[in-house]
Amino acid sequence: MRIQFDSTTNAFTLTTRNTTYQMRVDRLGHLQHLYYGRRVEGDLLDDQILPANYGFSPVPYHCRAEQDFSLDIMPQEYTGCNTGDFRVSCLGVSGADGAAGADFCYVRHEILPGKYQVDGLPCVYDNGGEAETLVIHLADPVTGLQLELSYGVFDGQDVITRQARLVNGGGQTMTLSKAASACLDLPYGQWDLIHFHGRHCMERQMERLPLSRAVHTVSSRRGASSHHHNPFVILCDHAATEDAGDCYGIMLVYSGSHRTDIEVDQTGCTRAVTGIHDELFSWTLTPGEAFDTPEVILSFTHEGLARLSQNYHRIIRHNVCRGAWKLARRPILINNWEATYFHFDADQIVEIAAKAAELGVEMLVLDDGWFGKRDDDHSGLGDWFVNEEKLAGGLDPLIARINALGMQFGLWVEPEMVSEDSDLYRAHPDWALTLPGREPAMGRHQLVLDLSRPEVTDYLYQRLSALLRRHKIDYIKWDMNRNMTDVYSRALPPQRQGEVAHRYLLGLYRLLDRLTGEFPQVLFEGCAGGGGRFDAGMLAYFPQIWCSDDTDAVERLAIQHGTSFGYPVSTVGAHVSACPNHQTGRTTPLGTRAVVAMAGTFGYELDLNKLSAEEIYEVCYQVEDFRRYYHLIQDGLYYRLTDVPQEGWFTAWQTVSPDQSEALVSVVLTHPRANTPLVHLRLKGLSPQGRYRVERLSFFGTLNPPDTAGETGAARAGRTWSGAALMYAGYTLPQFFGDFPSVQIHFVRV
Ligand code: GLA
Repeated sequence: MRIQFDSTTNAFTLTTRNTTYQMRVDRLGHLQHLYYGRRVEGDLLDDQILPANYGFSPVPYHCRAEQDFSLDIMPQEYTGCNTGDFRVSCLGVSGADGAAGADFCYVRHEILPGKYQVDGLPCVYDNGGEAETLVIHLADPVTGLQLELSYGVFDGQDVITRQARLVNGGGQTMTLSKAASACLDLPYGQWDLIHFHGRHCMERQMERLPLSRAVHTVSSRRGASSHHHNPFVILCDHAATEDAGDCYGIMLVYSGSHRTDIEVDQTGCTRAVTGIHDELFSWTLTPGEAFDTPEVILSFTHEGLARLSQNYHRIIRHNVCRGAWKLARRPILINNWEATYFHFDADQIVEIAAKAAELGVEMLVLDDGWFGKRDDDHSGLGDWFVNEEKLAGGLDPLIARINALGMQFGLWVEPEMVSEDSDLYRAHPDWALTLPGREPAMGRHQLVLDLSRPEVTDYLYQRLSALLRRHKIDYIKWDMNRNMTDVYSRALPPQRQGEVAHRYLLGLYRLLDRLTGEFPQVLFEGCAGGGGRFDAGMLAYFPQIWCSDDTDAVERLAIQHGTSFGYPVSTVGAHVSACPNHQTGRTTPLGTRAVVAMAGTFGYELDLNKLSAEEIYEVCYQVEDFRRYYHLIQDGLYYRLTDVPQEGWFTAWQTVSPDQSEALVSVVLTHPRANTPLVHLRLKGLSPQGRYRVERLSFFGTLNPPDTAGETGAARAGRTWSGAALMYAGYTLPQFFGDFPSVQIHFVRV
């Protein structure tokens, strides 16, 4: 039993393979959080939460005689509103009389097989027999506002999902000003916060800091989960490392504005509240109406950050990503963006494709510029009709030529946007988000379409489904190149304007549901100026997302390092691009660029015709290597072997096959030095008793002295090591230097 209710103590215990989550209904009917952490069996953990009296912490009226209870210090599953808990709250709600208040008490609960789903929002799902659901119904006796808290318990995955639904069960209209998804109170312990901040071309930079008494907020107000703050945070104990220590993950399954507040209260209890950002948000609930919050994926491990990441990798790959492509081998693709930008014709595209096909690349993706009037980013968005000046005869002749090379064909679109200079905008200026009487703020010379309006999503569905039906398109890159401003919909009444941003997301999810459902054979890759919407919500529709517009191999190390905490390699769009790199001007060895792109979906983003004969030869090997290592990279367990890349002089990571029979270690030297110390690595995840040899070792750089890769060098021909030796004593590489050299080592169990 993963979910147990003890009617003598009114306690709920949720159990996964290695964790226990416990809560109970207290004597006043509140749902009190007791424990989430390492597995504890058979105990009621209520003596962790003893009655106590704190000055200036208000006492519920019913307890006024005792003075030993306050919602202000009680760990809770979800807070009420304006009833004496002064910490960060989950809810803001007021009635028609303007009175803000809600105090939820237990009504009943249900334990159900399988995993609940939330209408209209992406969710973790059960592949059959993996999960159980608990729904706890609570209500505010005064307003009739009902709260349904759902818990999905994934035993084998060590994951608990949560979601909240608010239902107006009263007779008056109510307005939500905040509706978080979940609250996680950790009554004891001192925690570090790990979060992932960034900017365009530098997403998901990992930062770790000890929690102080100031409230820490990780948020986006951009209408997208954003390049700037990912909707995923980790709380871990001060001593936690990759290999050991208590770690909690809190991941929101949402792609819009989000907010996670972490507060350490007066008693030392740490509270995390996560959900939709409440700024500019409001939601009107007429009697009988309901509001569903996005889901949160929680995971706990006492085994450190690597295990926590692996928990998320597994649940995202198997239970968030959907459709035929989620576990299937993805094609190695070549994208023309950095090769041509907007300036191409069919012959140029075929020329790029032909060279790539020769080298084993499997798909050509035609990026921006193929439609409408689109010679730069000032015009054309919205007009999803082929530009015949560039592609004479339309898409079909081009697709036929690409297919004749033995390649599949993919296409870029940016459906959520419109250019002022477009036929769509001229026909429907009211379809763009703009404020009455104001000039809108511009981003990349374009406006955001109002996807809260069904006629807009219907139009997009018609256009895109026509494209997919009429042409042999195997892949779509779905881009989104600016954030939301001027959030106002001409289709909604004044009191519902606070709903626009979330209704936009609901419209987007509905559209994606329709398209991915109707065209299951098409591989969709998400993108938002690179990784500006890299989140579990998007991954429910797009099994891969272009990780960053920064294709520089060295910068990618930090971006992919941060991304790896929450998201699996199979979701990380990564390509080899030209040097000097277009974003940084840096030159890195071609081999290093491939080693880094292999920590993702792998592909190319340059004109291979411009490479030297020697480089072409290298590309052939890269394609072969990626095919050889594909399952190891995509299905293996991922380990970070080094910490924050910027601080070290090398970055290393490793994947190990689930049966521990092989491992691939990748190392990139980011700061080559004179008289450099040796790179020493402690491998991870191997079988301690198993014996391993180096099957292949590829150096991309200069060895010092030059012959050290062979018999006497790193490969040490004929040698085998126990897994224990490689993990505990470690493995040392010979000295190597040059500009950003790298090494890839394939260990195989003998
Ligand atoms: C965004 C994407 C790029 C490319 C351009 C095209 O920036 O992230 O990969 O598709 O748009 O305009």
